[in-house]
Amino acid sequence: MDKGFKNSLQLVSDKIENSLDQILMFSSESDKILNEAMRYSVLGGGKRLRPYLAIECSSFFDVDYDDVIKISSAIELLHVYSLVHDDLPAIDNDDFRRGKLSNHKHFDEATAILVGDGLQAMAFEILSGDFNKIESHSQIELINLFSNMVGHKGMVGGQAKDIRSNQGKQLTLSNLLMMYKMKTANLISFSCQVGSIISNSNNLHRNALKDFGDNLGLAFQITDDILDVIGDSSIIGKKTGSDYKNKKVTFLDYYDINQSKLEVNKYCDYSISSLNVFDQIPSSLINVVNFVKEREF
Ligand code: IPE
Ligand code: IPE
Ligand code: MG
Ligand code: MG
Ligand code: MG
Repeated sequence: MDKGFKNSLQLVSDKIENSLDQILMFSSESDKILNEAMRYSVLGGGKRLRPYLAIECSSFFDVDYDDVIKISSAIELLHVYSLVHDDLPAIDNDDFRRGKLSNHKHFDEATAILVGDGLQAMAFEILSGDFNKIESHSQIELINLFSNMVGHKGMVGGQAKDIRSNQGKQLTLSNLLMMYKMKTANLISFSCQVGSIISNSNNLHRNALKDFGDNLGLAFQITDDILDVIGDSSIIGKKTGSDYKNKKVTFLDYYDINQSKLEVNKYCDYSISSLNVFDQIPSSLINVVNFVKEREF
């Protein structure tokens, strides 16, 4: 991994960790074990890729940094909820996540369900709260797009298609890619559009960042499939072979590993070329695309 990228990702991770730690402070109105379980899954792990994208893609625009950190934290909370529920016995039944026992293993299933519910609500609480420099109409647009990206037309809908993809049904490659777009690329693409939405940018820039995120998100899910086969569990922090265990249809049913890597490169190239509408492409974004191409975790 590029050293400059590693350092800048670490910097973002530290900022987000700090923000999430504050957000998840125990409140006497909450339940002690629920709070502990939310903190267990949110803090101290994960690549924080979505916050990184939200922050770096905002650098094109005149935005308030603290506002972007707040929104990035909400995105990460929503993402962690999706992971906690994804690991449940009724979905992927995976016992490890981010290098430790998954939430339902460390606590119990009922707690893990409530953790996800609580994190999702918290994300919306943050997005609908106070900001320094976001006009109301942009804030509503932000929440509206977020709802679309994570609900039945987005992440949750993609997860629904995913659980049905293991029941011996034929799935065309284009349906598989649609499922990846919904379950994974939508939230990544939303992260990339945050700065353009809150700064009320023009559609040209907004669409460029949408395309950047959509293509990067597809590449990201394909590399996730590849790592599930050839990754190192101790590096990726989750057990490999989950898709095989669950008889999931994945990208590797259509392409072998080498061809899949070429497809990853293709989507990464589309992703970068979407940014040609900007005068200059920041090295942070070139680096994050290269990371997705070559990632080992
Ligand atoms: C895993 O996401 C789930 C997918 C969408 C493939 P990440 O690989 O970003 O998980 P963390 O946040 O780093 O744990
Ligand atoms: C999950 O896809 C995507 C989500 C929305 C959580 P996977 O099921 O492949 O993610 P991992 O491999 O468990 O992280
Ligand atoms: Mg899954
Ligand atoms: Mg899974
Ligand atoms: Mg996976």
